[in-house]
Amino acid sequence: MASSIKVEILTGLALFGLGCLAAPAMESRIMSVPPTLDPYLTKPRLTFRPDNTFKITIFSDLHFGENAWDAWGPQQDVNSTRLMNLVLASEKPDFIVLNGDQITGENTFRENSTVYIDEILAPINAANIPFCSTQGNHDNQINITHLEEIQRELSHTALSYTRIFPSGGEYAPGTYWVPVYAHQNDFQPALIIWAFDSQGGVSEGANSTALPDYVETSIANWIQQETQLMDEVWGPADQTRGALAFVHIPPHAIQAVWETLNSTINPGLDADALGQGSTQATADPSSAGKDQPFWDALNANVKNLHAVISGHDHGNEWCAREPTKNVIFCFDKHSGYGGYSSTGWGHGVRNIVFSTPDPSVGPETWIRMEYGETHARITLDKNYQ
Ligand SMILES: *[C@@H]1O[C@H](CO)[C@@H](O)[C@H](O)[C@H]1NC(C)=O
Ligand SMILES: *[C@@H]1O[C@H](CO)[C@@H](O)[C@H](O)[C@H]1NC(C)=O
Ligand SMILES: *[C@@H]1O[C@H](CO)[C@@H](O)[C@H](O)[C@H]1NC(C)=O
Ligand SMILES: *[C@@H]1O[C@H](CO)[C@@H](O)[C@H](O)[C@H]1NC(C)=O
Ligand SMILES: *[C@@H]1O[C@H](CO)[C@@H](O)[C@H](O)[C@H]1NC(C)=O
Repeated sequence: MASSIKVEILTGLALFGLGCLAAPAMESRIMSVPPTLDPYLTKPRLTFRPDNTFKITIFSDLHFGENAWDAWGPQQDVNSTRLMNLVLASEKPDFIVLNGDQITGENTFRENSTVYIDEILAPINAANIPFCSTQGNHDNQINITHLEEIQRELSHTALSYTRIFPSGGEYAPGTYWVPVYAHQNDFQPALIIWAFDSQGGVSEGANSTALPDYVETSIANWIQQETQLMDEVWGPADQTRGALAFVHIPPHAIQAVWETLNSTINPGLDADALGQGSTQATADPSSAGKDQPFWDALNANVKNLHAVISGHDHGNEWCAREPTKNVIFCFDKHSGYGGYSSTGWGHGVRNIVFSTPDPSVGPETWIRMEYGETHARITLDKNYQ
């Protein structure tokens, strides 16, 4: 089983690199070409800094494109752009994650719905920082789809590390992983950033219907296959590779976690009661529990998973340990001036900072508000309760 998988990788790589050579020549080259799983051979390698740190800034729930026909809609986007510029100028992260609901798709027009992606890319392009994105329930609407947003992103910047899941379709293409290396020439990465598409929203067009609001069951097998390939090619993850996972809608297991929060252990805003639609597979009662295969596979197969990070519930910023999987979950910070909000919630980002590529040392994380105030700082390691 394991060795036949390895042969496929080697063959695939040889075909990729030596496509015009005859088959026998390929055979002889295969053994001398180191196998690679890195899907970004034409892009700069993401690496830790020379001082061994790596900083990720997460913009979540930007909700661009609301009410273009009123003054306040476009003004919200001016404000969100201001926030992005302020944060990027002072945080100078090594990588950015856009964690879904980039656009309020139910307000946008068929003819220009993805133009708002260009507005979101402008501060990122100006700062010249690589990034990737997940998509949310507001990114699948009558006039917009996850796939259209990703395609717009990929065609309007070279900084995007987002990939399109081959069989994800229009509404769930945003599932992939991104490797980060300790040093430029390392054989294997030190950190894998996983992104999962939790679907949601409604299908495109005139006869729109509600879409599933969870990571597809089939992704469980994919996680198992990808982690097996990584182990085969790069060696076991245990001592060598850490991981972070991003998914717009929180896994349904977070519902029970919310009921036991303690503001000392779980600092950060807790203003959004988790109810129907707040976590995966809860919008339609007949979907109950359908994200469990994903949740099981993620936690069983991805080693050194420092945290699972979601947006979606704008009034929440807390982190907490999910006891059934013994994994830390964190909310993002609502970044956009669009989308629902309430007095005192404000806008900001979540930062995640690694002090070393060693996967046994967890990163620090905290909320940074638009004008620089920080709070809810914790370390994502085994000592976190
Ligand atoms: C999209 O089109 C609408 C309707 O014509 C317009 O009001 C809006 O400003 C346009 N948005 C962008 C980003 O161009
Ligand atoms: C934009 O930001 C300013 C300054 O924070 C605020 O006073 C205003 O209400 C915001 N406008 C919108 C539409 O979000
Ligand atoms: C979608 O786009 C069309 C064409 O611009 C527009 O008439 C309609 O109001 C938009 N929104 C929805 C929800 O259909
Ligand atoms: C929507 O449904 C109606 C009625 O079944 C059908 O006539 C129409 O062609 C459908 N439109 C689209 C865009 O599928
Ligand atoms: C919250 O956690 C702190 C620190 O562990 C503990 O001292 C406190 O008793 C807890 N509060 C409640 C209400 O459980």
